[in-house]
Amino acid sequence: MTTHGWSERAPPGRVAYVNGRYLSHAGAGVHIEDRGLQFADAVYEVFSVIAGRIFDEEEHLDRLERSLRELAMAMPMGREPLKFVIREIARRNRVVDGLIYLQITRGAFRRDHAIPGDPARRPSIILTARNIDMSAVAARRKSGVKVVTGPDERWGRCDIKSTSLLANVLAKTSARRDGAYETWLLDRQGFITEGSSTTAWIVDGEGKLITRDLSHAILPGVTRQVILEVAADAQMPVVERRFTPAEAASAREAFITAATIGALPVIMIDGKRIGAGVPGAVCSRIQELYQLAASGKSVRGEMS
Ligand code: PDD
Repeated sequence: MTTHGWSERAPPGRVAYVNGRYLSHAGAGVHIEDRGLQFADAVYEVFSVIAGRIFDEEEHLDRLERSLRELAMAMPMGREPLKFVIREIARRNRVVDGLIYLQITRGAFRRDHAIPGDPARRPSIILTARNIDMSAVAARRKSGVKVVTGPDERWGRCDIKSTSLLANVLAKTSARRDGAYETWLLDRQGFITEGSSTTAWIVDGEGKLITRDLSHAILPGVTRQVILEVAADAQMPVVERRFTPAEAASAREAFITAATIGALPVIMIDGKRIGAGVPGAVCSRIQELYQLAASGKSVRGEMS
């Protein structure tokens, strides 16, 4: 069996979905001329699964459709059949607490930078799913994480969830090198856009939640959107505006959000303690409200 250079050990029976077929994860692949591989001409989504429930499924699918539309790419299948595949890939990989990764590329064509004349032709679709170690996430939630800052070197359409992630990859690597969990990216004016794979939030002295307003500069995070809704329902004041590392350093609290982590407290930025330097009450409340909302909403998305 070919493994396409895949060298990680996967649990036996791990399955991937590629273009209509469920394949052994180790042997699954797309063609070497796939534009996803050659040009990052592809979009993706990451869904979180908790206790067998798919969180925020409709919101992720809405964003997927938007990303595809912005790049004039076609959905390779209808939404309902896709939801079936999402459930099936989770079921076949016995995912209880984990994630589902979905990628759609423009497909395989002879290499040419310009988008091929018939953009609706032959998109590739890939889904994988795996369990994640929730005790590691729980430990981080308890201890809080550190962030560092660095330049935002990404392209101008960060609102599209494309697989063109090299600048994000470099930023995350520099965080790891500095012993931090995340890099908060700085625009040319010195304001934080977001993390390399997370949305950035602070809580000011009055308890107001602050996160950057939507634009081409950030990904419209699904977790961000749900948190804005639950915070409003809970009468927690929220402002969508940009903020600087100095403001973050003097904030009462800070946290990051993403599908895979929910809300994770940030206790240090560039070596400076935020607030008391321990996870804060607002972040913990937000995480509680988010869990409640997402698990309630996902009843319809529950896997049989
Ligand atoms: N990352 N900002 C960026 C740049 C991201 O890559 C992500 C998600 C987020 C949070 O979005 P959401 O709340 O919809 O997960 C913000 C995913 C998890 C990833 O790349 O693995």
